[in-house]
Amino acid sequence: MGWGEITWLAEVDSTNRYALEHFEALNDGSLVVAECQTAGRGRRGRNWISPAGENIYASFLIKSTAIPIWHTPRIGGLAVLETLRTLAPEVNFWLKWPNDLFCRERKICGILSEVKTGQGNVVRGGVIGIGININMSERALHALDQPATSLLMECDDKINLKKVAELLVIALNKYYIIGLNNSQVLYDLWKAENMLIGMLVDVVMDDAQVVHGEICDIGFDGELKLATSTGVKRFLSGDVAISKSSINQLFRR
Ligand code: BTN
Repeated sequence: MGWGEITWLAEVDSTNRYALEHFEALNDGSLVVAECQTAGRGRRGRNWISPAGENIYASFLIKSTAIPIWHTPRIGGLAVLETLRTLAPEVNFWLKWPNDLFCRERKICGILSEVKTGQGNVVRGGVIGIGININMSERALHALDQPATSLLMECDDKINLKKVAELLVIALNKYYIIGLNNSQVLYDLWKAENMLIGMLVDVVMDDAQVVHGEICDIGFDGELKLATSTGVKRFLSGDVAISKSSINQLFRR
């Protein structure tokens, strides 16, 4: 077994933590999936709420060091997009910098890539952690800390989680291979799905400072370029809040 293998866990604290701990034993291009997480990790130190049997909580193993770690969320984003589009072709999903997937103005998936280092802090690869809201009810979604949706809410159908994981691992390997062959192609595909360029936004920085401007580009190394009243500013991390006028323009309200 190897490429495309899925390790199913009934319960774990975090699939990312598990995949990093068992990195040597797990295969390159394989996926760890848990029914439930007791300490799911989100970006910027947040928790990822992970109720049992409702959603996908998964971590994908990247053992090649040829792909820089900051490119790996692109593999995750494009693979989730392809999987969701296969399951719900009529729904409009899009990528939101830095590592989210949205459906209209609601988040449906978050991605957290983490690096695996070995002796002497040498990079050995990484894991792409993926949380997708699949069968979460409206009530459970309301309890989250930001506007969110699930596949159930978007297409009124309960989805088999095994089927989602099987589609996902195939798509992840597809984009992993594309990235290994040509990281420029991976970047071009990923950038084309980012709907933020041209939008008026507030970027909330890690220190909670807020910068307002229009997104003019997203660079090859992942930096967001924001045209502000004092010139172009670059961000490598942060949260983006889209202005109401840009949301209306994006979804033609
Ligand atoms: C975000 O904050 O948007 C990123 C969320 C990433 C959550 C996933 S769930 C599976 C994997 N294991 C974790 O502990 N976190 C990621």
